[in-house]
Amino acid sequence: MINTGDKFIFGGDYNPEQWKAHPDILEEDIRLMKLAGCNAMSVGIFSWSELEPEEGNYNFKFLDSVINRLYSAGIKTILATPSGARPAWISQKYPEVLRTNEYFVKKHHGERHNHCFTSPKYRELTKKIDTELAMHYKTHPGILMWHISNEYNGACYCEHCRKAFIEYLQSKYNGDLDKLNYDWWNSFWSHTYTSWDQIEPPSPIGECSIHALNLEWKRFITHQTIDFYKAERDTLKKITPNIPTTTNWYWCQEELNYKTFSKEVDIVAWDEYPQWHSPKGDFNIANETAFIYNFNRCLKGGQPFLLMESTPSCVSYREANTLKRPAMTLTSGLQAIAHGADSVQYFQWRKSRGSFEKFHGAVVDHVGTEHTRTFREVSKLGELLDKISCIKGAETKAEAAIIYDRENLWALQNCLGFKTHNYGYEETCFEHHKRLYRAGVNVDVISPEDSFSRYKLVIIPMLYMMGGDTVEKIEKYVANGGNVVMTYISAYVNETDLCWLGGFPAGKLKQVFGIWNEEIDSMFDGVLKSVLNSDGKEYKAKDYCEIIHEQGAEVLCRYNEDFFNGKACVTVNRYKKGNAYYIAFRDTGEFLDDFYNSLLKELKIKRAYNGTLPENVAAASRIKDDVEYVFLQNFSASVKTVKIGSYIPVVETAAKIINDNAEIGPYETIILKRCLK
Ligand code: GLA
Ligand code: ZN
Repeated sequence: MINTGDKFIFGGDYNPEQWKAHPDILEEDIRLMKLAGCNAMSVGIFSWSELEPEEGNYNFKFLDSVINRLYSAGIKTILATPSGARPAWISQKYPEVLRTNEYFVKKHHGERHNHCFTSPKYRELTKKIDTELAMHYKTHPGILMWHISNEYNGACYCEHCRKAFIEYLQSKYNGDLDKLNYDWWNSFWSHTYTSWDQIEPPSPIGECSIHALNLEWKRFITHQTIDFYKAERDTLKKITPNIPTTTNWYWCQEELNYKTFSKEVDIVAWDEYPQWHSPKGDFNIANETAFIYNFNRCLKGGQPFLLMESTPSCVSYREANTLKRPAMTLTSGLQAIAHGADSVQYFQWRKSRGSFEKFHGAVVDHVGTEHTRTFREVSKLGELLDKISCIKGAETKAEAAIIYDRENLWALQNCLGFKTHNYGYEETCFEHHKRLYRAGVNVDVISPEDSFSRYKLVIIPMLYMMGGDTVEKIEKYVANGGNVVMTYISAYVNETDLCWLGGFPAGKLKQVFGIWNEEIDSMFDGVLKSVLNSDGKEYKAKDYCEIIHEQGAEVLCRYNEDFFNGKACVTVNRYKKGNAYYIAFRDTGEFLDDFYNSLLKELKIKRAYNGTLPENVAAASRIKDDVEYVFLQNFSASVKTVKIGSYIPVVETAAKIINDNAEIGPYETIILKRCLK
């Protein structure tokens, strides 16, 4: 476990180099940070041109003054390596560092996060500045951890990268090109390679039709990004072995498999910008955000993660940059804490005066004072986090898990068949998660490689790509008494995107689920099909209807129209000691409501809060020293009432407590606790 102190980390991205010409503002920053209760700032993220204005001329004087000033004020520094954006002199002097796009066109200097991760020159320059930084700050007591680069993302298609890709493939395939040709099914359209150097990255102006190539290229991007990260990390670790390292990730960076990446960081750090108050509805946003936090917590087996960036008010790049409603800044930050974060960090501390993000929300606005709604809310959260520091490091106990797999997302994005323009993989995961979230059940979001054995229930939505190991694991899990729910479009292809032969779902799963899945009907938007359960209750199917045959399974629902009228569409199979449920259609909502309502009861899945949850109120809990802390969060604009019962309020929150009832105001959170001994 990484030691990040006794208190929740609280602060944000701080870019003092933008304010060098304003010493008064830099002084004022410290006063305001103290006032807001900040204890850690991420510094240096985009400071390369400040730190090395010309090659080899390192100048850390200004950074020294910042870190020292913070330290004297009791604020630690999360020190970044500056590799997320490079100075213009590097691009000018060494054009090889520039990225080449998927049309094989070399890009010009500009923006950020845009360099070639393979370029030996970029690696060399990064190594040099990282070494200088580590040497300079290795004994500074103010350094809390390394923030390596920033939101690594993107891919490069240059010759260096192409060569590295081929080497990656040669090593993966042990030099066996025939095996690669077979795994990629290259006899199709005469795509057989006869020499390794015929392989190119997938491109819209070149090869983009080999699904396994597209998939392997994404794996390579993850591999190469991690390789670059590791070069940075190892440079730092050699000099500062005791300073923890992390790098910040974000959900829509779809090219990266964070499960693979997570093995290389000491602690997971995450940037999250939920689109509160959008037409999707706050509870839906809360559900997706909870899913993402649950995923983060599980990346390193339940170890608390860091919320490394979030906005205190709004962002600046969406169709409508909606402000957080009163109390939402608090509740949004506490949602991360509720799901296992040990920090709330903001992007950004102070709004920049010019350039790209000048209207992005910040703790300190252009007005420059503490007299703003946002500043008041941030300070309130700072004060609250201080009072609940006993929760820091607490763990989450979940009896249910959902499997989410980035590689499966890639495989589906790549797939041709069914409904080609929207498979809805992540949306399906969110839909299943929502039924548990709404019931106040703690959920782990795990990867196929994680262990299933600790869960009473494992949900497998649309795991289209499933390797043989996962097939085995599911069989063992159910055989040993586990309960599994799997949906349509699962276990169709193996890990190189070759279809499983012998009928879907793959191999033994036909026995485990007691079904065989013969065909899938994909429906145009707006088309619905009727489904009946055994009590005659009607549901509607949309998008997908698989036509399955029961082979031992008990039928819970059947289709009620079309040529597959009367065929099974929801089944349960009592397999050895466990139960395997199969859902063969995508429903419009009501079916999943009823299905999980009864399943959660039947399996007696523990809820984070014992009482009844009003609509749009969520519950999540963390446990430490035999005390369970329950966060009840009102994601609505109306007042909600919950029973306190045997719980004890942890701190006085905004809730009004009358007898046994707590009134949770619009977008407010209350924290209760109970002793488990
Ligand atoms: C990302 C980046 C930040 C900033 C924010 C804006 O998370 O890491 O530098 O651009 O987005 O939301
Ligand atoms: Zn490159």
